[in-house]
Amino acid sequence: MDMKKAIEKRRSKRKYIDIPLDEEMTLMLRRSMETYNREAGVDIRMVLGDEGAFGTAIGGIKKSYGLFSGVKNYFILVSKLNREGHFDPLMYEKLGYYGEKLVLEATAMGLGTCWVGGTYDKEAVVCSLQRDEEIASLIAFGATADKMPISEQIVGKAIHYRRSKEIKDMLRTSGDVENWIIEGMRCVVKAPSAMNMQPVIFTASDDMVSAKVRGKRAMEFFDLGIAKLHFEIGAGGGKWDFGNGAVFQPPEE
Ligand SMILES: Cc1cc2nc3c(=O)[nH]c(=O)nc-3n(C[C@H](O)[C@H](O)[C@H](O)COP(=O)(O)O)c2cc1C
Repeated sequence: MDMKKAIEKRRSKRKYIDIPLDEEMTLMLRRSMETYNREAGVDIRMVLGDEGAFGTAIGGIKKSYGLFSGVKNYFILVSKLNREGHFDPLMYEKLGYYGEKLVLEATAMGLGTCWVGGTYDKEAVVCSLQRDEEIASLIAFGATADKMPISEQIVGKAIHYRRSKEIKDMLRTSGDVENWIIEGMRCVVKAPSAMNMQPVIFTASDDMVSAKVRGKRAMEFFDLGIAKLHFEIGAGGGKWDFGNGAVFQPPEE
């Protein structure tokens, strides 16, 4: 499956079923993760077969986190804090970009995924961190039922209470734009974003495109990296500079 098809297919999945993951698939995902870690200087780790982060057993009663169930496998996105102990926006953006690559690869393999920035038990995550490191987000992945359980359809609808945005809501332009820009935006409007806020604004003039968030919340920088990847896939190539407001180098003719 190509990445455009994976974008069409992807929806956040919160209910996982207890089927062991195919070893070949996990190996492929692990290899991709290691490549991104090495080449982009990000820190993404893979945890398999752990139930703690999404429902810790306390005296036999399970804490339930955000209507997730059956999550056993997840990626941990680790970020280094800056000198003042704050999050690093550029690192979050890169984690967004490369984390979403893993999401789309897993989707193409037929697995379900969900970005999880908040609704998990941070204390229970299987991860050893240095003093200047923090868990920035998790991405749950695994086998899901073919048909979405009703409870999940309801969560999906509730989260989409804010109508998903259209291209005109996310693209500023002063006239006609080239077709590859529209193709890029078609994939942007389908990107996951924290609380479905879709905060990234693209600006296009002639064949110059840039992407920006207001940058008030850390999660917006994940959304920025994710949206940039979707744009690149939709545009059929090209390359982004990282950074808030950075420009896109268009695909070769
Ligand atoms: C950075 C980020 C953090 C997210 N955190 C959570 C979360 O903590 N809990 C949750 O249930 N969904 C979370 N989501 C999933 C979004 O709610 C979801 O992507 C959005 O509602 C759009 O729905 P879709 O992914 O099905 O298109 C997160 C998504 C992103 C990109």
